[in-house]
Amino acid sequence: MAAVASIAEEILDLKRERRAIILAHHYQESEIQELADAIGDSLELSRRARDFEGGVIAFCGVYFMAETAKVLNPSRIVVVPDKDAGCSLVDACSADQVRAFKRLHPEYAIVSYINTSVDVKAESDVLCTSRNAVDVVNSIPADQPVLFLPDINLGNYVRKMSGRRNMRIWQGACIVHSTFPARRLSAAKSEYPEALVAAHPECPAEVLRMADFVGSTSAIIKWCADSPADEFIVMTESGVSHSLNRLAPHKKFHFVANENCNCSECPYMKRNTLEKLAACLRDLEPRVEIAPEIAERALRPLERMLAIK
Ligand code: 13P
Ligand code: SF4
Repeated sequence: MAAVASIAEEILDLKRERRAIILAHHYQESEIQELADAIGDSLELSRRARDFEGGVIAFCGVYFMAETAKVLNPSRIVVVPDKDAGCSLVDACSADQVRAFKRLHPEYAIVSYINTSVDVKAESDVLCTSRNAVDVVNSIPADQPVLFLPDINLGNYVRKMSGRRNMRIWQGACIVHSTFPARRLSAAKSEYPEALVAAHPECPAEVLRMADFVGSTSAIIKWCADSPADEFIVMTESGVSHSLNRLAPHKKFHFVANENCNCSECPYMKRNTLEKLAACLRDLEPRVEIAPEIAERALRPLERMLAIK
């Protein structure tokens, strides 16, 4: 295996040659984040993809994020290091299921979390991310019923924060966040009594009740860095430690292991490697391709979201 430094050089050379941008989610390995032109949460990366004017987007995250970049850039090449970098939330909800719901309940507004396939997005009225989900649901007229999909924990959090009653919630879950047990967080709080707790809204309600702050990955990073406190328990994927340690090197961050892998890593996000990133920039494969009719239909709810916040 080539040394990390020489693969990194090859990636930077290929990036120049291809007029490419590397977008990386906070859950990527540090060595990938170090080479990225932008690191962010789902909303920030969507905005960055929308504003891109070069030739190739190399998207280091999971597949639905790269699909979103392609919907926003139909004429540009979007490549991913690993096409099998999926997401348990995407798997929890199919377009056929959403169409069946719409046939039975045409009066509902379909609010889809960005962690869905492009086919589900095409069936949706508006999309949201963990950062803007409450604002998006509040943008729907109060008397119109809402189907929020697919994350049950984010849906319950949005219902609580918006006070909305006419809202049905899908039963999907993130295999990383939904399996963080509240008892392990309690144990961590006893071990680190000075630490504040920051949690992603995909965590179970009992975990969110114990949190001092709830927000997207970027919001968690900013809150911890800006806080006067020096110690934190961070209830999300441990890839955020890259930016946390860069922005606040003197502070302490603790992560809690979940019950799925007994770790705090997303197995889909961690499929991407430097070698695969170099290969996708070299071969321009695997490439994200979306049928134009689906891309056009998915663009509408995406643009509606981007106009809200
Ligand atoms: P963010 O939009 O907060 O980065 O979340 C994406 C995600 O997949 C969380 O598990
Ligand atoms: Fe999907 Fe969960 Fe991984 Fe985020 S952490 S990409 S929601 S499986």
